Amino acid sequence: MSIIDSKAEQWITLQTRDTSYHMAVDDYGYLRHLYYGKRLEPEDLFYLYRNYDRGFSGNPRSAGSDRTYSLDAVCQEFSTAGVGDYRIPALRVMHDDGSRIADLRYVSHEIRKGKYALPGLPAARDEDGDAQTLEVVLRDEPSKLTVRLLYGVLEKKNMIARAVLYENAGDQPIVLEKAGSCCLELPYGNWDLLHFHGRHAGEMTPERAPVLQGVQTIGSGRGMSSHQHNPYVILCDRLATEDHGDCYGLMYLYSGSFRAETEKDQYGSVRAVMSPGDESFRWTLQPGAQFAAPEVLMSYADGLTRLSQQYHQAIRENICRGAYHLAHRPVLINSWEAVYFDINTDRILKLARQAAALGIELFVLDDGWFHGRKDDNAGLGDWEYDPEKLPEGLDRLIASVRETGMLFGIWVEPEMVNENSDLYRAHPDWALAAPGREPARGRNQLVLDLSREDVQDYIIQFMTGLLTKYDISYIKWDFNRSVTDVYSRLLPAQQQGEVPHRCVLGLYRVLETLTANFPKVLFEGCSGGGGRFDAGMMYYTPQIWGSDDTDPIERLTIQKGISFGYPLSTVGAHVSIAPNHQTGRSTPIATRAAVAATGAFGYELDLGLVSAAEQEEIRRQVQQYREDEPLIRQGLYYRLGENTEGMDAFSWLLVSEDQEQALLTVVATATHGNARLIHLRFKGLDPAALYELREEGLERTGAALMNAGYTLPRLNGDYPAFRLHLKKVQTGAGKEE
Ligand code: GLA
Repeated sequence: MSIIDSKAEQWITLQTRDTSYHMAVDDYGYLRHLYYGKRLEPEDLFYLYRNYDRGFSGNPRSAGSDRTYSLDAVCQEFSTAGVGDYRIPALRVMHDDGSRIADLRYVSHEIRKGKYALPGLPAARDEDGDAQTLEVVLRDEPSKLTVRLLYGVLEKKNMIARAVLYENAGDQPIVLEKAGSCCLELPYGNWDLLHFHGRHAGEMTPERAPVLQGVQTIGSGRGMSSHQHNPYVILCDRLATEDHGDCYGLMYLYSGSFRAETEKDQYGSVRAVMSPGDESFRWTLQPGAQFAAPEVLMSYADGLTRLSQQYHQAIRENICRGAYHLAHRPVLINSWEAVYFDINTDRILKLARQAAALGIELFVLDDGWFHGRKDDNAGLGDWEYDPEKLPEGLDRLIASVRETGMLFGIWVEPEMVNENSDLYRAHPDWALAAPGREPARGRNQLVLDLSREDVQDYIIQFMTGLLTKYDISYIKWDFNRSVTDVYSRLLPAQQQGEVPHRCVLGLYRVLETLTANFPKVLFEGCSGGGGRFDAGMMYYTPQIWGSDDTDPIERLTIQKGISFGYPLSTVGAHVSIAPNHQTGRSTPIATRAAVAATGAFGYELDLGLVSAAEQEEIRRQVQQYREDEPLIRQGLYYRLGENTEGMDAFSWLLVSEDQEQALLTVVATATHGNARLIHLRFKGLDPAALYELREEGLERTGAALMNAGYTLPRLNGDYPAFRLHLKKVQTGAGKEE
């Protein structure tokens, strides 16, 4: 039983394997948040909170003359605006009379077996068969706005999924100006906010800073979850480390504009709220209508490592879907950095044959293959192959690639259009643009209005044609600009604030249809790299191109940032040429492979520029990756630290769940004369077992490796990498047999 309610006292406790979440209805009908953290048995936790008369913090009418009760000073499950709580609300409404008040009181609750689903939105699935759902109904009585708080408890995964259904049970329209997905209260303690910011070709830089007085908002108004701020935040105890300390994660399963707000209030209490859209969000709820706010996956763990591992497992098993989500991912070669737009049959086939000879399993024809696409100024929208580039036809090209033994994949960017395209000439109204205004361009392209069903249907239709007509096993689905000129010609003025969210719903409908109809196709998401690297996309695309920056040294930070929330299986990572096209830096091919092999692995370079010796190395790398892949995909991931104590290196470790195998990777970011040696301690091994350290020809116990640690051989040269495979050779070796 993961959800327990004590009817008499009106407490509700959500239990996962290691965590508890407590709430209760108070004397005035407000749903109060009481506790989230290490697992406790259900009991009355109201004793934690003491009320007293606080100035300028008003008292709800129902509290009568009790001046000690104020919504401004208590923790709530779901905060609203207009009734005396001045902190960030999860819900902001405007009623038909212009008032902006919502006074949500508890009505009822229900516990159900299984995990709820959300209409038209991604949501975690009950893969372990142990999920339960709690639905708590709150209502603003004067307007009859009904708010259904959903909690899906994934017991083994230590996850609580949260979402909200808003229903207008009244007879006047209600405008949702903010329709939050969750509110989390941390009444006591000193907290840091750890979030992941960046830019195109420089995503996911972790930043950890104290939650200060006032509000901090991270988010996106770009119509995509964005390179700038990932929709995943961690609140952790100021003293929390990788190994210990209270850590809370909020991960949004959402791919559009969003806000993740945190506030430390006048009494030191911290609140976090996640909501879809930016400040322009407006959703008109007509009488009888419902709005579903996207899901947030919430988790608690002792230490950042454990928190990350919990998310890795949940995303892999409960969010990603399709034939590939738990399967071996083919090692691919992508044509982009090899030939860019300079595509022709001979060049592509040469690359494909070279790749196949090295053991690569999938050939991906990137941008530049379709009609009119000579550069990135034209062609988007016309998804027929370009006969000038491929005179024998796409069919023939695919057949020749398949003859090498490789699978074939192709790049598309379906949500976009170039003005110089037949599609735009036929349907100029399909692009987002407001009447009387010329829309801004980004990469010289416009964004299609995916809030329109006809546009969604067009995408479904051409993609279905492509996947039916041709032998395609993989799709790279790109999105290469931020959204502007948000206006849909099919919606009335008062509904224009709905357009960004409707576009995301449109995208999800398209992806749901295609992934359901073509379950064997591997979809890789992309948005100029990680512009839409979020768990919402992962529901449809089990891997996403991590960044347009393929420099392994840059990728160290990007992939480290990703590792806080997302499993390695979701990160597209490729070996590219040296010097690197983004940074001009040269690194050894072994280093490039060591970094790319900590993800969904592939190559993206002109193999004609690679020496015979390096080709041999690539052949070995591909074989090695195949061997390591189960560990990379499913192993427990440990960040062992970077650039600390004078050691300029990033190091990380993967340990199989059964502790039979492990893989250590270290990449030096600088080398020095008379250098300090790098010493580190392993984690997660079986202390009593004896492990073989393959590349060292040594055998040592897990206890020694975890406590006394391990000193690396000296690393020399430019950006050297070091990998060490561990294999358990004897159990109980720490003790005398
Ligand atoms: C984006 C992607 C790249 C490549 C180009 C093609 O930038 O992230 O990998 O596909 O588009 O135009």
